[in-house]
Amino acid sequence: MRARLLFITGCLHLFFASIATAQTTSPLSTTDWWKHAVFYEIYPRSFADSNNDGVGDLPGITSRMDYLHWLGVDALWITPMFPSPQVDFGYDVADFKNVDPQYGTLADMDKLIAEGKQRNIRTLLDYVINHTSDQHEWFQQSRKSRDNPKRDWYVWRDATTTGGPPSNWICHFGGSAWKFDPTTKQYYYHAFYPEQPDLNWRNPAVEDAMFDVARWWYKRGVAGFRLDAVDTIFEDTQLRDDPVIGGKNAYGDPRLKRVYDSKLPELHGVLQRLRKVSDENHAVLVGETWTTDVEELKKYYGAADKPEVHLPMDFLFCNVNKLSAPAFRAQLDAMENSGQWPVYVLSNHDIVRHYNRYGDGAHNDQIAKLMAALLLTVRGTPIMYYGEEIGMENNDPKRIEDVKDPIGRLGWPRQKGRDGERTPMQWSAEKNAGFSQHEPWNAVGPRSTTYNVETEKADPNSILNFYQKLLQLRHTLPALIDGTYTNLVQLPDVLVYLRQAAGQRLVVILNMSAQPQQIAFNYISYYPFQRATVKLASTQTSETLDLTKPLNVEPFAAILMELEPKS
Ligand code: GLC
Repeated sequence: MRARLLFITGCLHLFFASIATAQTTSPLSTTDWWKHAVFYEIYPRSFADSNNDGVGDLPGITSRMDYLHWLGVDALWITPMFPSPQVDFGYDVADFKNVDPQYGTLADMDKLIAEGKQRNIRTLLDYVINHTSDQHEWFQQSRKSRDNPKRDWYVWRDATTTGGPPSNWICHFGGSAWKFDPTTKQYYYHAFYPEQPDLNWRNPAVEDAMFDVARWWYKRGVAGFRLDAVDTIFEDTQLRDDPVIGGKNAYGDPRLKRVYDSKLPELHGVLQRLRKVSDENHAVLVGETWTTDVEELKKYYGAADKPEVHLPMDFLFCNVNKLSAPAFRAQLDAMENSGQWPVYVLSNHDIVRHYNRYGDGAHNDQIAKLMAALLLTVRGTPIMYYGEEIGMENNDPKRIEDVKDPIGRLGWPRQKGRDGERTPMQWSAEKNAGFSQHEPWNAVGPRSTTYNVETEKADPNSILNFYQKLLQLRHTLPALIDGTYTNLVQLPDVLVYLRQAAGQRLVVILNMSAQPQQIAFNYISYYPFQRATVKLASTQTSETLDLTKPLNVEPFAAILMELEPKS
């Protein structure tokens, strides 16, 4: 493929002239630890199985704490491990103040938190704020009678005059969001499965009880929460129908514009009050905040005098489902211009792993490193998902009979469910990927003999070692810890940005194309930078680069280099 020569011109001359004298930023205080931290999401069912029953557990996570420390992550977000009938694999919580026996005990959780602390790794839990399990004691009471003291803890309404559900709202997981309960002859509302009735956040007793849950875990030493499905906590009191927008979703329901059952302004009051509880406990809130743009995302940060979520996740990165330098650049710029602290995420337990989303089938490992470099070198807090550091891919069920996630059975084949992104962590080339001696609850990915921690640790060019080095640099280079972010040039296939702090200037080059690229830095000879030291590269690159000549950048290569002032 013919290399393209790209000239970085004009305004950039002035830019480099000015950065030579620019002020550096001051270090962040330790209360802002979460701005320096790299978060790592763990799906406990799938991480490590200590008792060999086929399901991961808390002692399993603890047993891998040295690995997490070696990798260089600073905080764990553990998805629900509370007692649960597991209809939604833990997101249907039956008791917020305990641990499901299949994951261990409260003592195991205390140990996990303590072992993490010893290694400077904080633990965050999932705060399932919108609903409980229908097996939760609160709902068991609530459904008993219309005058039960817990009745108003959930959203109960009469049928319409024709006997149908109170509104046209649909459940995120298919079908009506209202379920008729014959005992009291009323419908209850559930934004998710019918086994996940929505709490009524308009009732102050619910807020008190849920804030009490938060305080209870803070006292046990958790460093914060990820707020689950926070958009859905309020619904319109008049039960107005959502507008129908045409077409059908994967479950065959009419598509609706969710204006009356989602993102109601009242939720910000709850977030402000929850933030106070968190601040009193020096804890951090991470938000599951799906938005269509950064303007919408900004609302979740709150105002300076009324702060809300510290780290609302910017899922807009996840919406860029092809490698597109202009699309990522636009997203980064929008976040940079927002005046808020960015929070980037590429994969999680609800979305197809980014190894598959960005992979082109021929250069997937290169692309995995490229995306790691993006996630871990831009300004902001990154949230990793377990296994991305070894290049784990989605392993979707091939037959409906194998599907574990109920939405996969309901929506098959358009919606295959989320089993594919929740497969067991691949620790070694052994049977069941070293996850368990027992047949795992969810099938291990087919490439586990080559893509696993043990094998990759031994290979200096592995995805795992690339992540580990990136994380090390992120924690040691001032420009990555605290530096400003500046996009340097608008190129169609390459991202080139500068991170700058404390006299250090790092340039990151990410070639998002299958073509080799040449980047011409030679104009820099007029300015103080003629050479750069490579700090990390995903391809063979010399240690020192002569910037007076065009720089060759291989397909999908990531290069992180420090500009050296002219001697
Ligand atoms: C969130 C979780 C998802 C869960 C849903 C209902 O979106 O990430 O896994 O099914 O909430 O709790």
